[in-house]
Amino acid sequence: MSEAATGSRETIAILGGTGDLGTGLAIRWSKAGHRIIIGSRTLEKAQNAVAELAKISPDTPAEAMENRDAAKAGNIVVLTVPAEHQLSTLDTVRDGLKGKILIDVTVPLVPPKVGTVQLPAEGSAGKRAQDFLGDDVMVVTAFQNIAAHLLQQDVVIECDVLVAGNKKAAREKVIELAAEAGMTGYHAGPIENSAAAEALTSILIQINRQGKFSHSGIKIVGQGDH
Ligand SMILES: NC(=O)c1ccc[n+]([C@@H]2O[C@H](COP(=O)([O-])OP(=O)(O)OC[C@H]3O[C@@H](n4cnc5c(N)ncnc54)[C@H](OP(=O)(O)O)[C@@H]3O)[C@@H](O)[C@H]2O)c1
Repeated sequence: MSEAATGSRETIAILGGTGDLGTGLAIRWSKAGHRIIIGSRTLEKAQNAVAELAKISPDTPAEAMENRDAAKAGNIVVLTVPAEHQLSTLDTVRDGLKGKILIDVTVPLVPPKVGTVQLPAEGSAGKRAQDFLGDDVMVVTAFQNIAAHLLQQDVVIECDVLVAGNKKAAREKVIELAAEAGMTGYHAGPIENSAAAEALTSILIQINRQGKFSHSGIKIVGQGDH
């Protein structure tokens, strides 16, 4: 991972950034030079997470806020909470999201059958978020197939990122952020197509269960003129 050389320095607010995936993204984007705000339901929990992050990226100090304040302060907002709390969390922050990119990583797994694809009635968690927030917010889904523990470690991530959302420029920005976090992202089309990336996670879980892989992923192949 290198300094944020390709893009501008963003203020990235990570809602539920105290959790596994949010911590991983915070580490990677903080190392890339972005300003990180860790959001939580409680300020104290966010402060503890910021203290941990400071040990890893002392040169790019993060800030702690409650989710609502974090969403207002970020120019890019990332939602990293369990699927069952996706809409309730968005409801508490929606005022702060207008005109912004919301990166939604939600995988709608339904325990105990997490190895079975069980997408919501709206078609996908990403579509559900876009319907809920309306067109004022550019929902872009990504990172559903990336294991949180890999993001948290200083390792090469081989798994590619499928980036879905209705606005091409917003997808482009997320592809840029994925690159800064050490991953290759691809335009995966409109928000409806998030269903495929979300569903893939259950398939990767099935593959991991077979024992040969601990963190299976996907790779887009076929580049070139043939
Ligand atoms: N873990 C992975 O490897 C992985 C990979 C790809 C995608 N994802 C997706 O990323 C999202 C986060 O996964 P995770 O593993 O990071 O989850 P997690 O660690 O279990 O939880 C993330 C954060 O969600 C918040 N949260 C918990 N209960 C909540 C509630 N009732 N209302 C509002 N917020 C609540 C908590 O933050 P506060 O207590 O600080 O508010 C918690 O730290 C999920 O949608 C998951 O499908 C995860």
